[in-house]
Amino acid sequence: MFANKKIVLGISGGIAAYKAADIVSWLTKNGAEVHCVLTEAASEFVSPLVLQALSGREVVVNEFVTGPGWGIVHIDLATGTDLLAIIPATANIIAKIAAGIADDALTSTVLAATCPKFIAPAMNTHMYENPATQQNLQTLQQRGWQVMPPASGRLACGAVGKGKLPAVELIEEQLHRLISATDEFISNMDLVGRKVLVTAGPTTEAIDPVRYISNRSSGKMGYAVAQQAAARGAEVLLVSGPVSLQPPAGVRCVQVESARQMRDAVLSAYSDSDVVIMAAAVADYRVAAPAEQKIKKTADNQELVLQLLRNPDILQELGSQKQKQVLVGFAAETNNLEEYARAKLQSKRADLLVANDVSRSDAGFDVDTNQIIIFGADGSRREYPLCSKLQAAKYILDAVVEKLAAKN
Ligand code: CTP
Repeated sequence: MFANKKIVLGISGGIAAYKAADIVSWLTKNGAEVHCVLTEAASEFVSPLVLQALSGREVVVNEFVTGPGWGIVHIDLATGTDLLAIIPATANIIAKIAAGIADDALTSTVLAATCPKFIAPAMNTHMYENPATQQNLQTLQQRGWQVMPPASGRLACGAVGKGKLPAVELIEEQLHRLISATDEFISNMDLVGRKVLVTAGPTTEAIDPVRYISNRSSGKMGYAVAQQAAARGAEVLLVSGPVSLQPPAGVRCVQVESARQMRDAVLSAYSDSDVVIMAAAVADYRVAAPAEQKIKKTADNQELVLQLLRNPDILQELGSQKQKQVLVGFAAETNNLEEYARAKLQSKRADLLVANDVSRSDAGFDVDTNQIIIFGADGSRREYPLCSKLQAAKYILDAVVEKLAAKN
């Protein structure tokens, strides 16, 4: 899976450091060349010998390693690296990286590395929630780091709260996605100077202050499009409904909840956009009169009838005001895919319509793969093989680039 991938795994000094051993083992078994770099404190929690045995490589703790094969240690580690991951990351290492400090092998390697970077913080809840740590994490995110938020649960200090290292399988899933992304990122910057607006995720429509109507959209397709567009040089605005994904590096993200909030955010950026990609699964209906207080069960309300009103159709509105923009819609269907997709393309005045069959287990909601057909307003039809959502995003943007060229 990760053949020819060089991964630097930084481990800092927290109780969760021992879990890094499992990750080293998983990466190595999958073919990666794993270089472990520990802080002094980490070496108190996990034995370098264990990591050396699992990775089959010398583990670096001390910056001043000498011996055959080593030049300047942190430069050697940072060069030709596909991914640098720090698991777990303490508040201290996060602060040092945010400040640009390079006082040991790990922090020096971080400063020298230009590859994609991932960090999984793990610490006591108060330390995690401390504004200093939060601000430092925000700084890293702004610099393009993928930050995986910690999980909640019982912590090593005995307290219960946020700060646990997420399950190893979840971390591995993220690493897999990042490493695959390095392959699928394309280097041609054919969207430089273009403003691309992407919507993603579901919308939620309130029933009362604690309940809502929504749908099964995970946002993965829209986030993949935003990530790919940014990688191709576009200035990307991502308008996202509630999802559990981190905004991709280099993408401006506006979070919304309801369809009407999404509409306002999209319309205010519309005139300035060259491309709009409506990947969001916008709720078609909202509750006519959401209750201001939580609806309680009483003896006489055995049934609850909600009156729903039609939400604005954002794509249709964009289509009716279209000027220079390339407009891309999506159609998630369970039957009559082609017929419905072509009808949506026409009624919403989109330039391209991306259709997928959500009744399939490998192309629907919350999976990492998709199988798309792109219909063009010019009558074209292109069917693509089952692929990752990042690859599907690439196909969509290829079609967008063609449309942009045809318009200008
Ligand atoms: N869309 C939108 N506003 C809505 C509903 C949908 O902008 N209120 C957009 C979606 O983002 C998508 C396209 O329209 O790009 C098609 O969405 P879809 O939910 O598949 O179709 P609908 O138009 O809602 O029609 P139906 O639910 O009848 O299939």
